Amino acid sequence: MCTLSTDIRSRPENGHSCYDHLTARFAPFRPSADASMVDPGRLEAGGVQSSVECLLRSGDKSIGGITVNRVSRRAVLAGGLAASAASFDGIVPLLAANQAEQALKDVASARGIRYGSTAMASQLLAGDSFTDLLLREVAALVPENEMKWLHMSSMPFQSDYRVADCLVEFAAAHGLLLRGHNLLWYWSTPKWFRELADRKTARTAMLRRVTDMVTRYHGRIDSWDVVNEPVDGAGDRTDHLRADVFLKQIGPEYLSLAHMAARAADQDARLVLNECGVEYDTPDMDRKRAAVLELLENLRKRDVPVDALGIQAHLSARRYPFSEQKLRNYLKRAAAMGLEIQITELDCTDELAPADISERDRIVADEYRRFLDVVLDEPAVKIVMTWGLSDRYSWIVRHENNPEQRRRDGMEERPLPFDRDLQRKPAWYALAEAFTRAPTRERVSTREHSPAAEKFSSKRPDWIFAR
Ligand code: G3I
Repeated sequence: MCTLSTDIRSRPENGHSCYDHLTARFAPFRPSADASMVDPGRLEAGGVQSSVECLLRSGDKSIGGITVNRVSRRAVLAGGLAASAASFDGIVPLLAANQAEQALKDVASARGIRYGSTAMASQLLAGDSFTDLLLREVAALVPENEMKWLHMSSMPFQSDYRVADCLVEFAAAHGLLLRGHNLLWYWSTPKWFRELADRKTARTAMLRRVTDMVTRYHGRIDSWDVVNEPVDGAGDRTDHLRADVFLKQIGPEYLSLAHMAARAADQDARLVLNECGVEYDTPDMDRKRAAVLELLENLRKRDVPVDALGIQAHLSARRYPFSEQKLRNYLKRAAAMGLEIQITELDCTDELAPADISERDRIVADEYRRFLDVVLDEPAVKIVMTWGLSDRYSWIVRHENNPEQRRRDGMEERPLPFDRDLQRKPAWYALAEAFTRAPTRERVSTREHSPAAEKFSSKRPDWIFAR
C-alpha cells in the first residue's frame, strides 16, 4: 500500500480484522472455525438477515433492533445546499444553477462518467443521514475493507462472505455499480497464506481465493482490482513486480494466473490493475509510471486479460510537484493499449496546508481540480471513485497506516467532498466543475476495449489449474 513516492509503512496489517469494529453492529457476525457457513438459526434470530435488511433499507423504521432514521434525507439535502450557497459564493456561480443542485453522480453521468465512493458496511448499517447522502451522490460503490482477503479469512482455505454479501446486496438493491476491491493485495493477505510452506499449496490457495470470490459475485461486480499495487518502480526486477508475498510464495507467474482465473470465473467483469504513486512529478513516480506501462505492455503481449488501469490518486496538497504533461502521457499510453482507465481511490491529504479551514479547503479543492482537469480530458477515464464521501469516514482522518500524512497541529484532516457534518465543501465543487468541463464519453463496453478478453472467455476454467 502506498500513497507517497515510497512506501512509508513497513508492516502489513495482520492479527486483527475489520470484523472487530463491525462486531457492535453486526453482533452475530463473528468469523468462526468454518466462517463460510452461515448459521440459519442466526439468520432467523435477526442476525445476518436483519443486517442485510437494514442495509437494504426496507422502509421499516426499526429492523432487527436497528433504528432507521428516515427523516433525515430532506434535512441533509437542504442543509447541504444552504451551506454551499452561503460559504462558497465564488465557486457556486461556476456551475449552472441547476448543476449546483444536482448530485455529483448526475453531473458526472451527463458526461458519461460514473462517480462513486467507498464505504464500509458499518457506516451504512445505521441507515442514517450518511446513507441518504451516499445514495443521493453516488452511482457506484466499492467496499473499503470488507472484500480484502485478510478481512475475510482467518483460517486456511476458509472465508466468511457475510459482510461482503451485505454490501453486494446493498449495491444491488440501490442500483449501484459495484467495484470489487480487491482479490489480492500483499498488505491485506492472511497470515496463514504467508506461512504456507510450499509453492503448490500457495498457488492453489491463491487461485481458490480468486476463483471463489469472482464466482460468488459473478454478474454483480463491474470491475475487480485483481492484484492491488503489484508494481515496484524502484526495484531491480526487469518485470517490475513488487517483491511481495505472492512473488515469494508463488513466483512471478502469480499475476497472470490471477488475471486468468478471474476472467475464467466471470467473463464480463472488468479486470483492473490498480496502482498507487503515479500522480505527481517526482523521480520515483516517473519510474513507477514507466514500470506500470511496461508491465501492462508485457501482459498484453502475452494475452493476459487486463481491461483497465486503476489510478488510486491519493493526492497530497502542496507535497509534490505536478506535471500535467507527464500525467497526460501516462494516460495516453494506457489508453493506446485499449485499456479503460479508472480513478479508483481519490482523496487529498492536507497536512501541509494552513490551519484556517476555508483556506485549507480551498487548497485541497485546487488539488482535486488540477488533477481532475488533466485526467478527465482523457476519454478512456470512465469511472471516478473517491475514497470516501465525507470527512466523517476517512482512513486519513482515522490515521490508518500513514503517519506522514497526519496534521502536526492536531486538527482534523479534511480530505473529502463533504465535511463531517455532511455539508458540501469546495472539493465537492471542484469535482462537479471538473465533470462539467470534461468531454462527453461514449459508453463503450469492456469487450470492445479488450480483444484479449474474448480469447480467454472461451477457455475452460480448469486449464488454469493444470501444471
Ligand atoms: O478493525 C480494527 C479495529 O478493531 C481496531 O480497533 C482498529 C485500530 O487500529 O483497526 C481496525 O482495522 C483497521 C481497518 O482499516 C478497519 O478500519 C486496520 O487497522 C487498518 O489498517 C485498516 O486500514 C485500511 C487500509 O486500507 C488497510 O487495509 C483503511 O481503512 C483503508 O482505507 C485502506 O485502503 C487502502 C486501499 O485498500 C488500497 N489503496 C490504499 C488505501 C489507503 O491506504
